[in-house]
Amino acid sequence: MKNSKISGMGFHVPEHIVTNADLEEMMNTSDEWIRSRSGIEERRWISEGEGGSDLSLIASEKAMEMAGVTSNDIDMVIVGTASSDYYFPGIGAQLQDMLSLRTIGAFDIRVGCSAFIYGLSIADQFIKTGHCETVLLVGVDVLSPALEKNPEGRDVGVLFGDGAGAVIIQPGEEGSGILSTHLHSEGKYLKDLWVELPSFRIEGRGFDEERIKAKRHRLRMNGREVFKHAVTRFPEVIKEALDANNLTMDDIAQVIPHQANFRITEAVAKRLNVDMDRIYSNIHRYGNTTAATIPIAMCEAYEEGKFKADDHIILAAFGSGFTWASAAIKWI
Ligand SMILES: CC(C)(COP(=O)(O)OP(=O)(O)OC[C@H]1O[C@@H](n2cnc3c(N)ncnc32)[C@H](O)[C@@H]1OP(=O)(O)O)[C@@H](O)C(=O)NCCC(=O)NCCS
Repeated sequence: MKNSKISGMGFHVPEHIVTNADLEEMMNTSDEWIRSRSGIEERRWISEGEGGSDLSLIASEKAMEMAGVTSNDIDMVIVGTASSDYYFPGIGAQLQDMLSLRTIGAFDIRVGCSAFIYGLSIADQFIKTGHCETVLLVGVDVLSPALEKNPEGRDVGVLFGDGAGAVIIQPGEEGSGILSTHLHSEGKYLKDLWVELPSFRIEGRGFDEERIKAKRHRLRMNGREVFKHAVTRFPEVIKEALDANNLTMDDIAQVIPHQANFRITEAVAKRLNVDMDRIYSNIHRYGNTTAATIPIAMCEAYEEGKFKADDHIILAAFGSGFTWASAAIKWI
């Protein structure tokens, strides 16, 4: 059976740069605290009037250009995001219109930071079964409007940035391209990283003064619990991808992990017993852009020559749900 392959990729981040010094003014934090706990130096936040669909459009156009495909070629759109412009419909349908695509299937998936790899897995199945020839997959998140930009929100507020990354997925050859994908979840931890409101469990969806005052519409995270699980699940799911393809870490040119936190990435490298130069990191520039970190990192790692044709790479993610996932790719 033919595997699918990534034939084009691109990313876009907002113009507005927010440095750690900017956050010192807002949040009673310090550049030293943010760098030492997360590795982040700056991030991009959207400006008034800008949304995830706008970033997705530019990232998608770049990916389409690299793959040499036009709007007419695309026969499915998958968007991984937890921060669509509207509660529903998602960004997928917006992109169908913005890119003037045919009336093809277009939908969003909502699994936080794991969404790009979940989307890759879905696209892979549609290509392998012959149902699709050209899938546009976007990972995009703009969580900055859900952050509390004052001292009370500093534990979460310093970590997240906004951005979008897109890939085009098409049929490749047997034995190369996307070799395998591995998806997991453990929903009992959902309240350790979540945005509760607006909720359809509540009449009026929870927009009352009391709930807003209790900040139940903000991004809330149990940082220590997330850290503890992430440093276990990342190595586990990377090993799963290696084992499924009879590979070892020596065969891997680059692991491209979700950029949650530089300290998590360092802990993963240690557990895998590999040097940090084999595990890509650009979190210092963008912070945690949720579903967008992996496609953005993949673009930059490729541009920097960290992997090339015939190299093996591993993508790995961990995030809200909890969910975690990996993909093994032989780049072509
Ligand atoms: C969030 C995280 C960086 C916090 O680091 P930590 O070492 O666990 O820090 P703690 O939460 O124990 O807080 C330590 C102190 O720093 C303070 N603090 C928290 N945020 C701060 C900030 N932005 N600036 C300055 N001080 C801060 C706390 O108030 C606490 O002070 P105290 O000791 O006086 O009570 C860490 O838990 C983490 O990386 N978690 C994973 C987060 C993640 O990756 N999320 C995305 C997953 S997809």
